Amino acid sequence: MTTPRKLFVKTYGCQMNVYDSERMAEALAGEGYVATHRADDADMVLLNTCHIREKAGEKLYSDLGRLKPLKTANPNLKIAVAGCVAQAEGAEIIARAPHVDLVVGPQAYHRLPQMAARVQAGARVVDTDFPPEDKFDALPRPVLRRAPAAFLTVQEGCDKFCAFCVVPYTRGAEVSRPAARILAEARALVDQGVVDLTLLGQNVNAWHGADGGLAALIDALSAIDGLARIRYTTSHPNDMDAALIAAHGDNPKLMPYLHLPVQSGADRVLKAMNRKHTAAHYLALVARIRAARPDIILSSDFIVGFPGESEAEFQATLDLIEAVRFGAAYSFKYSARPGTPAAEKPTLPEDVLNDRLQRLQALVTRQQVECQQAMVGRRVRVLVEKAGRMPGQVTGKSEYLHAVFLPGDANLIGRIAPVTITEAGRNSLGAVLAD
Ligand code: 5AD
Ligand code: SF4
Repeated sequence: MTTPRKLFVKTYGCQMNVYDSERMAEALAGEGYVATHRADDADMVLLNTCHIREKAGEKLYSDLGRLKPLKTANPNLKIAVAGCVAQAEGAEIIARAPHVDLVVGPQAYHRLPQMAARVQAGARVVDTDFPPEDKFDALPRPVLRRAPAAFLTVQEGCDKFCAFCVVPYTRGAEVSRPAARILAEARALVDQGVVDLTLLGQNVNAWHGADGGLAALIDALSAIDGLARIRYTTSHPNDMDAALIAAHGDNPKLMPYLHLPVQSGADRVLKAMNRKHTAAHYLALVARIRAARPDIILSSDFIVGFPGESEAEFQATLDLIEAVRFGAAYSFKYSARPGTPAAEKPTLPEDVLNDRLQRLQALVTRQQVECQQAMVGRRVRVLVEKAGRMPGQVTGKSEYLHAVFLPGDANLIGRIAPVTITEAGRNSLGAVLAD
């Protein structure tokens, strides 16, 4: 028997990349690759990249620089670059980093095993096609997993063309996987012990793989015995239809947490961003969602310093945050991405961006802390996922996606335990088992 080759995977960026990395590792397992947690021990290093902001792309080149000595020490080491930087800059990566052996775009992952075989034979390979077939069909089914929570990609790509965003170019047009395939994959995951499923898509609530859209898919998934929790991310406000909003009130398996990015609270900026909704529209939507599910926790993404954003317009974003009260938020300085319409416009000075980011983050951090503190004394149900940082402690997620630590042992892992929250930190909660 030949010794297995070792594969080290590093994932940057969003949860869709986390899912893709798992599927790529599974595909390469068929070629005899086993996972290693050390790059210096690997026969292949696979970097699954993100192109969303400039910094994310820069990280790839600095990591590639760090890999050079490993390749010198072990000339048989193969270096592969996947993900959105691979898609956007495939040829440039090959030219700039001669030690890279393989570049594969997000729509071509099912071709990875053949590509790896060619690379082993000494070739350098690039594939950034958008082939017509569904890559996930051609990838092997998920192998046995021990985690009780899993991601499942149901939709990829985006047709929204927000003026700042590279996703429509790197991931391509919106494509929904068919319901039957998603249900089959979900059943397979549940058979392996998964009880908490997060449906993934760049525009997940635009899913249209069957009549009735995402609400109908969630309904069908809810019928799977043993699947206790369903979540979905990331959503666009304009795709929150009445059925999906109603599902938050009616479907007990749909968890009360929703990531609904708004990006800005100023109508002129929203228009320049091509978001196709106003701040008032977003606030009205939040009111409808909260009417359906009053305890839902909302989170959002924000971009500060979009080209031309005035101080008053930035203030409008702070006002929107005050009005909504978010449980969590992700905020970013605007970063000009080549090829996007906004990149043509003059940018604001860096100190303005830094100042606005700091002020916005101070506000959302305050709201996050308040949201965490409001949980103290409440009974929630925690899906216990793994051992905690301290002995005799386990950790998992509440229905509201809070990270919760509680005393307990490995027997609790995989169970949904009723707990009482006893303390709140900034990023996690402490709890004890409730009787
Ligand atoms: N600059 C800054 N932030 C961006 N995002 C997307 N593109 C950019 C950009 N060019 C942010 C948005 C999006 C999140 C995933 O990343 O807030 O919702
Ligand atoms: Fe990018 Fe906008 Fe599509 Fe989200 S909705 S992926 S921000 S273009």
